[in-house]
Amino acid sequence: MSQNDIKFAYWVPNVSGGLVVSKIEQRTHWDIDYNRKLAQIAENAGFEYALSQIRFTAGYGAEYQHESVAISHALLASTDKLRVIAAILPGPWHPAVLAKQISTISHLTNGRIAVNIVSGWFRGEFTAIGEQWLEHDERYRRSEEFIDVLRGIWTQDDFTYKGDFYRFHNYSLKPKPLQTPEIFQGGSSRAARDMASRASDWYFTNGNTVEGIKAQVDDIRAKAAANNHQVKVGVNAFIIARDTEEEAKAVLAEIIAKADFDAVNAFGHEVKQAGAASPEGDGNWAKSTFEDLVQYNDGFKTNLIGTPQQIAERIVALKDVGVDLILSGFLHFQEEVAYFGEKVLPLVRELEAQRAAAKAAA
Ligand SMILES: Cc1cc2nc3c(=O)[nH]c(=O)nc-3n(C[C@H](O)[C@H](O)[C@H](O)COP(=O)(O)O)c2cc1C
Repeated sequence: MSQNDIKFAYWVPNVSGGLVVSKIEQRTHWDIDYNRKLAQIAENAGFEYALSQIRFTAGYGAEYQHESVAISHALLASTDKLRVIAAILPGPWHPAVLAKQISTISHLTNGRIAVNIVSGWFRGEFTAIGEQWLEHDERYRRSEEFIDVLRGIWTQDDFTYKGDFYRFHNYSLKPKPLQTPEIFQGGSSRAARDMASRASDWYFTNGNTVEGIKAQVDDIRAKAAANNHQVKVGVNAFIIARDTEEEAKAVLAEIIAKADFDAVNAFGHEVKQAGAASPEGDGNWAKSTFEDLVQYNDGFKTNLIGTPQQIAERIVALKDVGVDLILSGFLHFQEEVAYFGEKVLPLVRELEAQRAAAKAAA
């Protein structure tokens, strides 16, 4: 793999119910045995990252949820190369606790741990655990301080910080992580993009069309350049790769036909409020239809649904507009991650090599 190759991550199914809110059969499980095996299959298949999810309570039927840092460590302990990204909610986590936890895991796992700072969309979750629910842009202001503080603790001695949310006085974390963990973030509102253009290493966004993604990439990269900051972009996609396009489309149709109507609508109600709550009204799910919401991060919109060749071409088209990573979800995780590694990934690498050769010859 070359430095410029597009990277692949998969969603760790550490919450029950699978990645689509549908009563279709999903051969996946949230328990540790299933997840350990999946992590091993994924690293052998060529996936570089796994992304865990954090939920303190269910929003759409995901009734059981393993905690993200603990499960990330368990998956790192059962793999050799995979990097695992632990999802973190500022509020419940204090940055000093997280910095220390992650530093220890970095030492235990040869530096393969990363974090995804999520800003929260589910008010009921915060209420349930007695956490204060901040307004949309205030959540991002807190997340950005959280990221600044994490980076400070991980890289400096005698770290001092006086923010609106966090304060540190001559604090020296020992040991520091083996290498500074990569900091991802989730969200696509104006506030989320501005945070990415200043603070995060990676910007994760919901599924979208190539044009929709390009608009975000251009926007963030222009702002990041003005801030002298570099940020990479990861896009969510629910991948349905089958030998024929008809089969793949039939699977999508069945997922939608068997959608859990009440759960999707309840989720839609929560996230529409969260998206509309951003001042420009353009948060992650602001334009999502019922069908989009059946995959809770708009993963169908990216349209990685078809034959291996079609999917590989669409992935390279995303790379062409500046995407660095595809975050993938699957219906039957273990089988489909293996199929992806065998059938789709080699085609992606072939197309990338052809493009690189054409560029060199030009
Ligand atoms: C790839 C990705 C992963 C996310 N993972 C989580 C998560 O595990 N837990 C959570 O509460 N929110 C998660 N979020 C939600 C975001 O942190 C954020 O609250 C949401 O996208 C709303 O953002 P916006 O309205 O500001 O665009 C994730 C978002 C994305 C794009």
